[in-house]
Amino acid sequence: MSGVRYTKFNISNDVEFSTIKKLIDEDLSEPYSIYVYRFFLNQWPDLTYLAWDEGVDKPIGCIVCKSDLHNGVRLRGYIGMLAVEKQYRGQGIAKKLITLAIDAMVEGKCDEIMLETECSNAAALHLYENMAFIRMKRLFRYYLNQGDAFKLILPLTEKSCVRSTFLSMDAFPTNTIV
Ligand SMILES: CC(C)(COP(=O)(O)OP(=O)(O)OC[C@H]1O[C@@H](n2cnc3c(N)ncnc32)[C@H](O)[C@@H]1OP(=O)(O)O)[C@@H](O)C(=O)NCCC(=O)NCCS
Repeated sequence: MSGVRYTKFNISNDVEFSTIKKLIDEDLSEPYSIYVYRFFLNQWPDLTYLAWDEGVDKPIGCIVCKSDLHNGVRLRGYIGMLAVEKQYRGQGIAKKLITLAIDAMVEGKCDEIMLETECSNAAALHLYENMAFIRMKRLFRYYLNQGDAFKLILPLTEKSCVRSTFLSMDAFPTNTIV
């Protein structure tokens, strides 16, 4: 392989949309409907990245994310999907895609980044935990295949380390009538 190029998702290119869907559908145990892809890609096109094999100009990996307000008190980034084509694995491509997504979410002022992954997915757990994501919860029978998931979080700001109840008390001090 000659080199890998990384690009932000181009929302006006329908081929990129179907390419992302194909890359993810091939690898994930959970089938996603087209509406799930539209939900992420139409609302947060700036939080999706592709990796390309420069030699053949072919997409070989992607990451799909979103960010929104969690419990009304902190901005939570979310990694929804990540996949790298089998023959290109083990070369740091996923790590680079995650880094690009993290940088975009930091720039977007996220307080933390969350994701779920199957407890049996050793590659994903190794990858994320090496990038400082922390296991927060085990979600029993989370997937359609009855598999459990781990919920992982990467705290980015101090807000991420404070319970949302206490953050909402700050937003509405005791002498405030609401
Ligand atoms: C998980 C996945 C995205 C990793 O992609 P990749 O491009 O091979 O990963 P990288 O080369 O960037 O590896 C990054 C780190 O993960 C580790 N890793 C990758 N595959 C691994 C494996 N099978 N077992 C253990 N560790 C692994 C690497 O050793 C590397 O660790 P290091 O930073 O200590 O060197 C890829 O295997 C994949 O697409 N799997 C199917 C879809 C999937 O599981 N997505 C994640 C769902 S949340």
